[in-house]
Amino acid sequence: MKKPRARNLLSAFCLLASLFTVACVNSPIIGIIGEAVMLPCPCMLPINLDRLYLYWQIQGTVVDTFINGEASRSHQDIMYHNRTKLFVRENNTCSLLLSQLSVKDEKTYECLHGSPHITKNDVSLLVAANYTSPVLQVPSEQPRGRYTCTATGGFPEATIYWLLDNQPLPWDPESQQSVLDESTGRYNVTSTQAANISQDSTLTCIVENKRLNVNLSQTLNSPSTQDSPQNHIVIPLAVVSCCGVIVVVCLGITMMRRYLGTSRRTIHHNNTVV
Ligand SMILES: *[C@@H]1O[C@H](CO)[C@@H](O)[C@H](O)[C@H]1NC(C)=O
Ligand SMILES: *[C@@H]1O[C@H](CO)[C@@H](O)[C@H](O)[C@H]1NC(C)=O
Ligand SMILES: *[C@@H]1O[C@H](CO)[C@@H](O)[C@H](O)[C@H]1NC(C)=O
Ligand SMILES: *[C@@H]1O[C@H](CO)[C@@H](O)[C@H](O)[C@H]1NC(C)=O
Ligand SMILES: *[C@@H]1O[C@H](CO)[C@@H](O)[C@H](O)[C@H]1NC(C)=O
Repeated sequence: MKKPRARNLLSAFCLLASLFTVACVNSPIIGIIGEAVMLPCPCMLPINLDRLYLYWQIQGTVVDTFINGEASRSHQDIMYHNRTKLFVRENNTCSLLLSQLSVKDEKTYECLHGSPHITKNDVSLLVAANYTSPVLQVPSEQPRGRYTCTATGGFPEATIYWLLDNQPLPWDPESQQSVLDESTGRYNVTSTQAANISQDSTLTCIVENKRLNVNLSQTLNSPSTQDSPQNHIVIPLAVVSCCGVIVVVCLGITMMRRYLGTSRRTIHHNNTVV
């Protein structure tokens, strides 16, 4: 009875351990385009920092170095000029702060450090950017027609889903278009959806940025009532009924006051009698 349980425990532990190791080694760092990111590299520093050899590179391209007790930028690639910071003296790590991130920074960085034995840590960096809040455009012929959902300036390419009355509509990859803005490296995404929307339906589009685990959505409520003749009847009706309710409530309060006033007077009267 005991042995299988022990074995189960052991295999569960190994599974957990392996998951953990994989996560430790492979989980990439996510940085936001335009912002800065800390690329972690824990290291054992020698007591004399002059002996430290620290080299951040990408397959031979020098990102930043700390040699002979100081940050050395003489061999730094121009792509990283003014964008890197090391904290060896400040807080005893070999971590690198890389600022003004762009899509081009999506690479695996090697942190080589040691004294005298060199250790290598790999840090893979992925970049991302949030999309703008999606804009849902109503077709000219309502209620039927092709609705359009657009979100701009995000990274990586998003997926757009549609919901009709909170029920997912079949996803059609053909309906989605993405445009890469060459100058910013960001995407504009658009999806069109043919729908027949009744008066009490709601249509929602969801823009999913999987890397950031963020969904942005926009909902259209009963679009068929927009600018339709019914609106002109509905609004005055609502105003009239609202006014009616207020009048009734006011009347009720006045009558209650009167009633309470008379009853209080009666009680008062009774009291004086007693
Ligand atoms: C780095 O900053 C200096 C001074 O602020 C500036 O002269 C130089 O052009 C900058 N280099 C790059 C590549 O931006
Ligand atoms: C090191 O110190 C800087 C401030 O001097 C801080 O912003 C940064 O987060 C620290 N880095 C680490 C890895 O603790
Ligand atoms: C993406 O959308 C923005 C904002 O609407 C616009 O300024 C930009 O030109 C678009 N880029 C492309 C490549 O269409
Ligand atoms: C669209 O809705 C209208 C009114 O609800 C209905 O008469 C029509 O058959 C619908 N068309 C389709 C294609 O579902
Ligand atoms: C975003 O929406 C999609 C589609 O509805 C869903 O599968 C996913 O779990 C959502 N993600 C988040 C973070 O809400």
